[in-house]
Amino acid sequence: MSDISSSAPPFRHLLGIEGLSPSDISEILDLSDEYVAQNRQVDKKRSILGGRAQINLFFETSTRTQTSFELAGKRLGADVINMTATASAIKKGETLIDTAATLNAMHPDALVVRHPHSGAVALLSQKMDCSVINAGDGSHEHPTQALLDALTIRRRLGQLHGLTVAICGDILHSRVARSNIMLLNIMGAHVRAIAPPTLLPVAMERMGVEVFHDMTQGLEDVDIVMMLRLQNERMRGAFVPSTREYYHFFGLDREKLAKAKPEALIMHPGPMNRGVEIDSELADDINRSVIREQVEMGVAVRMAVLDLLSRRPGNQPPVGPDTGPETGPEGAQP
Ligand code: NCD
Repeated sequence: MSDISSSAPPFRHLLGIEGLSPSDISEILDLSDEYVAQNRQVDKKRSILGGRAQINLFFETSTRTQTSFELAGKRLGADVINMTATASAIKKGETLIDTAATLNAMHPDALVVRHPHSGAVALLSQKMDCSVINAGDGSHEHPTQALLDALTIRRRLGQLHGLTVAICGDILHSRVARSNIMLLNIMGAHVRAIAPPTLLPVAMERMGVEVFHDMTQGLEDVDIVMMLRLQNERMRGAFVPSTREYYHFFGLDREKLAKAKPEALIMHPGPMNRGVEIDSELADDINRSVIREQVEMGVAVRMAVLDLLSRRPGNQPPVGPDTGPETGPEGAQP
């Protein structure tokens, strides 16, 4: 690792992209690049989080996010524990705050949380002495997804500034869309939102995006096409007439993609619903789709975030056996 390891980030938790500066984002992406290189070597393991404990607390199912946070912590030498809501006392009626207090008493060094309610992770962070990382809260934010998307784009196209990115599909229910819109705006990209009116939040333009209800118009000359899943689990009622009709108007196929720049890249955070929001063949097109690359970048970005947060004053482990309680978590946290 380079000299970058001497700096600590100006934030204690990673609850969202909101509030990050362009240099905060660039620093995370620069360090992630180093971890991409490390992860491509035979020996992927470092010991910088040796002796530390990371708890992954997931109240919603997850495949890639939970696995990559686990792999990231383990590759940096931390002890990683996975807790799912079904296995925890939550099922027995314990409140979120009590769960936080219980976990806090075990002195973890990082807590990674996914929760179905927007704002729940921020609430929980107020009760914890360690750094808390938002792995997705309701339809609010999913910061490490936006960071891994940014890393994928930056490595392919060199920079984010000046690019035009179309985010298409169920934007209303998508924390991925919200975090990406914020990050791309912070980094100077132009963002378009393409969706039927029923799947767009009100006053979208105030988030700094150009709104389209027609894929062929919205995809005109874009550099990146980011597709989103229909998040049925967050829908109450029918938001689209049928998945067949949705695919016809909003599913990405070769004909619609032809409107984008010839070298435009296709992205998707996963899980994908083939034949609903994206044509199956396009999803696997090695010349256009970077969906697998996004998954690879996810591990590196999560390593960078865990590494950076561990450098915060108060997040450092005790220096020696006789340093006493003043070096504990209550030490220097602002
Ligand atoms: C996303 C999520 O959970 O918000 N998935 C992910 O983290 N890769 C998007 C989704 O579920 O559609």
